Amino acid sequence: MKIMVVGGGGREHAIIKKLKESPAVSEIYALPGNGGMANDATLVPIAAKDIEAIVDFAVKTGIDYAVVAPDDPLVLGAVDALQEKEIPCFGPDRRAAIIEGSKVFSKNLMKKHGIPTAAYEVFSDMEAALSYLDTAPIPTVIKADGLALGKGVIIAMTREEAKDAVRSMMEDKVFGKSGDNIVIEEFLIGPEVSVLSFTDGETVVPMISSMDHKRAGDNDTGLNTGGMGTVAPNPYYTADIAAQCMETIFLPTVRAMKAEGRTFKGCLYFGLMLTENGPKVIEYNCRFGDPETQVVLPLLESDLLTVMQAVTNGTLKDVDVMFSDKHACCVIMASNGYPSAYAKGYAIAIPEAIADNVYVAGAKLSDGKLLTDGGRVLGATAVADSLADAIKASYALVDQIHFDNKYYRTDIGARAMQAKVEG
Ligand code: AMP
Ligand code: GLY
Repeated sequence: MKIMVVGGGGREHAIIKKLKESPAVSEIYALPGNGGMANDATLVPIAAKDIEAIVDFAVKTGIDYAVVAPDDPLVLGAVDALQEKEIPCFGPDRRAAIIEGSKVFSKNLMKKHGIPTAAYEVFSDMEAALSYLDTAPIPTVIKADGLALGKGVIIAMTREEAKDAVRSMMEDKVFGKSGDNIVIEEFLIGPEVSVLSFTDGETVVPMISSMDHKRAGDNDTGLNTGGMGTVAPNPYYTADIAAQCMETIFLPTVRAMKAEGRTFKGCLYFGLMLTENGPKVIEYNCRFGDPETQVVLPLLESDLLTVMQAVTNGTLKDVDVMFSDKHACCVIMASNGYPSAYAKGYAIAIPEAIADNVYVAGAKLSDGKLLTDGGRVLGATAVADSLADAIKASYALVDQIHFDNKYYRTDIGARAMQAKVEG
């Protein structure tokens, strides 16, 4: 089968590497992919948001199955456009992708269907939002309604900070139309867990849990990033909590989407916070997480293509989705300065022997040489019998990978180790 994967980051590299293991797969095309994937897929220089060109390519090439990985093309309706040409696809259609595309939609969905989440108010009028903040509990959380490159969430520790955030979103329009409406919500406290799931709109199969490390610096300091590393499974996510999440969050969400006429098929990502009052939803994503995918898929023992096709065909209840009981750790190697300004264009050296463990996010090929070309450059993932060994092994990989201006956190997995000690 000819497979096409839309997107170009480390997550897509992890999806491609897993799909390559499938005996049914003969060719994989990455649109646009990046230079670091050239050994695993045919790179096609079509941007992930260029839906017309994506559909054209798929039709001309005779693509048998498409995977749309990033949020933008999903929210823009890439799956709908491919389905119109009868190309089977993994990913939600536009009506379902709104669960990530609009925070106002997802908050209202949770309220209506009794799914636990932070208390909130929605505002379309700036003055109303500002006067609400005169008395709102502090800290508080301000969220732009629409997609904002992962930067649309501000945790405000003071009233003034909260008001500045509202003004920047609603008056200065730093996120464009994404800030026309905003959500102001209750600040929650507790360990965070990422749970990706496969769902065909009826059945929901959670994948192994994981823990992201969003801040740029060690000990969770510095700016928010796309994610600096992950471990799986997440030790805070016990079997009891998993059962509770299935009852109160996962199934109710899938049923709610169906009831709203927005049946969700694809990977539904639950960003959870384990609060004193039980697990609550912090955010939904309509896609695989990055860099969660780089620790979750290496632990998947079932054939990814088979599972994806079952999602598309609505037969997920008939397939076994098996995960290994090992542990995985992914350390992101970034360009120093990320997520603010950084230099790029430095040669990357990855020893051949560890290439299978590396998921490249931001690199390009120039005269046959691989050069850094983004903030997050690559992720190094190790799998081992224990969390401690997985962490050690992933840092051993990092030590063998070289490029100028490299930066990485040195404490990926430390909080998870601490959780294990606390029991
Ligand atoms: P998001 O972009 O929705 O993933 O939010 C980014 C991060 O902000 C989350 O991973 C949380 O760490 C934090 N966050 C979001 N909403 C809340 C909340 N209501 N209370 C506390 N932290 C939050
Ligand atoms: N790692 C969080 C995300 O993919 O949005």
